Amino acid sequence: MSAPATDLAAGASSVQSGRQILVTSALPYANGQIHIGHLVEYIQTDIWVRALRMHGHEVYYVGADDTHGTPVMLRAEKEGLTPQQLIARVWQEHKRDFDSFGVSFDNYYSTDSDENRVLSESVYLALKEAGFIETRDIEQAYDPVKNMFLPDRFIKGECPKCGAKDQYGDSCEVCGSTYAPTDLKNPYSVVSGATPIRKTSTHYFFRLSDPRCETFLRSWVAGLAQPEATNKMREWLGDAGESKLADWDISRDAPYFGFEIPGAPGKYFYVWLDAPVGYYASFKNLCEQRGLNFDDWVKPGSKTEQYHFIGKDILYFHTLFWPAMLEFSGHRTPTNVFAHGFLTVDGAKMSKSRGTFITAESYVSTGLNPEWLRYYFAAKLNSTMEDLDLNLEDFQARVNSDLVGKYINIASRAAGFLIKRFEGRVQDSAMNHPLIEQMRAAIPQIAAHYEAREYSRALRQTMELADAVNAYVDTAKPWEQAKDAANAVALHETCSVSLEAFRLLSLALKPVLPQLAEGVEQFLAIAPLTWADAGRALSSQQPINAYKHLMTRVDPKQIEALLAANRDSLQATDAPAATANAANAADANKKSKGSKEAKKPAADETPETISIDDFAKIDLRVALIVDCNIVEGSDKLLQLTLDVGEEKTRNVFSGIRSAYKPEDLKGKLTVMVANLAPRKMKFGLSEGMVLAASSADEKAEPGLYILEPHSGAKPGMRVR
Ligand code: MSP
Ligand code: ZN
Repeated sequence: MSAPATDLAAGASSVQSGRQILVTSALPYANGQIHIGHLVEYIQTDIWVRALRMHGHEVYYVGADDTHGTPVMLRAEKEGLTPQQLIARVWQEHKRDFDSFGVSFDNYYSTDSDENRVLSESVYLALKEAGFIETRDIEQAYDPVKNMFLPDRFIKGECPKCGAKDQYGDSCEVCGSTYAPTDLKNPYSVVSGATPIRKTSTHYFFRLSDPRCETFLRSWVAGLAQPEATNKMREWLGDAGESKLADWDISRDAPYFGFEIPGAPGKYFYVWLDAPVGYYASFKNLCEQRGLNFDDWVKPGSKTEQYHFIGKDILYFHTLFWPAMLEFSGHRTPTNVFAHGFLTVDGAKMSKSRGTFITAESYVSTGLNPEWLRYYFAAKLNSTMEDLDLNLEDFQARVNSDLVGKYINIASRAAGFLIKRFEGRVQDSAMNHPLIEQMRAAIPQIAAHYEAREYSRALRQTMELADAVNAYVDTAKPWEQAKDAANAVALHETCSVSLEAFRLLSLALKPVLPQLAEGVEQFLAIAPLTWADAGRALSSQQPINAYKHLMTRVDPKQIEALLAANRDSLQATDAPAATANAANAADANKKSKGSKEAKKPAADETPETISIDDFAKIDLRVALIVDCNIVEGSDKLLQLTLDVGEEKTRNVFSGIRSAYKPEDLKGKLTVMVANLAPRKMKFGLSEGMVLAASSADEKAEPGLYILEPHSGAKPGMRVR
């Protein structure tokens, strides 16, 4: 069906090959769904892998689910499943999502595999042999009912600043303060509700503080591609001889879902020990399937290349622990680690209440084309760790105007005439048109931008070429040429140049839009495009096929449907998972996260007396409770709609659910602070505060009483 396009310059097209390249993306946790934040990484990696494969290199792209750890164990228990059952189900979901988005793993595996157990044990035993493992007793929070040690994110209590209940051990969702888990008042275990106790046990440590590690890491860091990563490493390593590296706790006590440490009954490898080894386990499994020699790739002195794509939050694991583990267990070390930034949606962190915590599955089932997102991310991605924003309006505009308007339309405009008037055959002489020559010359530059992970540049240059093609068509005016048979040769040239230009644009876009490229290859009746095809052209020998629609525009209704599909619906079931998800990374990873913003002094620093002017700053008003509702997913809050005599009502969340039912309050008057700065809460914006009385010692004397003015007061009246 498809013949290779004519070779214009044999020799120029010979592929630069011979490189052997192993590529990975971070292994997603097996207790949550793939969301569009994750997809930044998998799409970024996939584009790179495809661009390198198009050179003819031997490239293997492997991934796996990261299955071990406390969150997976507890989540399975909650769902009444064994951990193995849970991870088997999640693996299917993850695989489905990656397939939908064209993420072309050569192998997608699991860290809970025999290969990974064997490799993790051998890495550990080699480190032990070399004197890098040490045991030490440490004291930690322990759940005396569930009989397990508690990671920070599994301890909740009252905020030490504002007293809000049910806050996590690191920060308060109500007042925003940050603190240590030991600061929580009345702490309890999220697992059993019991009050945690302190308990000592023996842990195994990887001695990162060993001078050999520091020496090795100092030289290894010199090869890192990203200046930001190098700077981070310098910060972590400190000045020469400063020896800032702390030993790494690599064991967890039973009960734990993971691999038991050889020779240490009841002790398990911490999930972050066996997770990166999972890259090798997945690749080993692939080697077995394909008959490759695993050792050739992973032993010191290997001629192969090894790259890890990761998010900036897990840099610490990949630029300190992982290379040191490899180096001192008799393996080669990574050629490079490429970190990317974090995704925001419409300028803010992805949020379940706004519907911007968008799962891969919801995107696909709403009917949006996965290649639109690939295109949009590519248009925003560069080689740095800068965060990137998915602006939903910009998303529609770019897909509709660039992708469909500038690129797809070139084919739809030219194909009809060529089929109807010229049997679908191009005019061979048109293949040397100056515009075509200019485009051909640009392709190697575009390919180089992909390899340098400068996708936004690659696409900008491609769209500039598309602009040039559209300008050419607008000048030639094929629709005018077609009116007069005397212009047949000119019309033939216009259509032929357009279609050859379209072929070259498709080549430039192929790493980003692989499925579309396949459609183009069928339409033009050509073999799968590679970079060498820049030196070839369409030929009159091979007629094109009829044009079939290649891509539609984004409909704004689809975006609305997407947000609606993700709004709130996840809260009840998935919120604990999402938080637990952060738990693994959070407890070992504090160093790599940016420091939280400094907080204002606490309320308890308020002076004993204030002036009347101070009091006058508080705008207290009578408010009518127009509506009152419970807040799905919170057992603390009520949502109040308040009329304070303004044009619009105010939305206020208040922690009074323990004392009032919504129907008790509807229609009543109360008093609110009307000039409090609006505060973004988990469930939406709170535009003020209602006043309520409670005892200083709520434990001894529970009860909450909201204020109510005497009859006659009107909404909006000032209280002073
Ligand atoms: N399981 C660990 C990785 C182990 S690698 C040996 C993990 N999993 S994760 O599911 O939390 O994240 C997987 C990858 O997705 C990470 O590289 C992470 O940085 C990335 N992202 C998760 N949320 C993201 C955004 N909102 N934006 C961009 N990347 C994000 O970490
Ligand atoms: Zn608080």
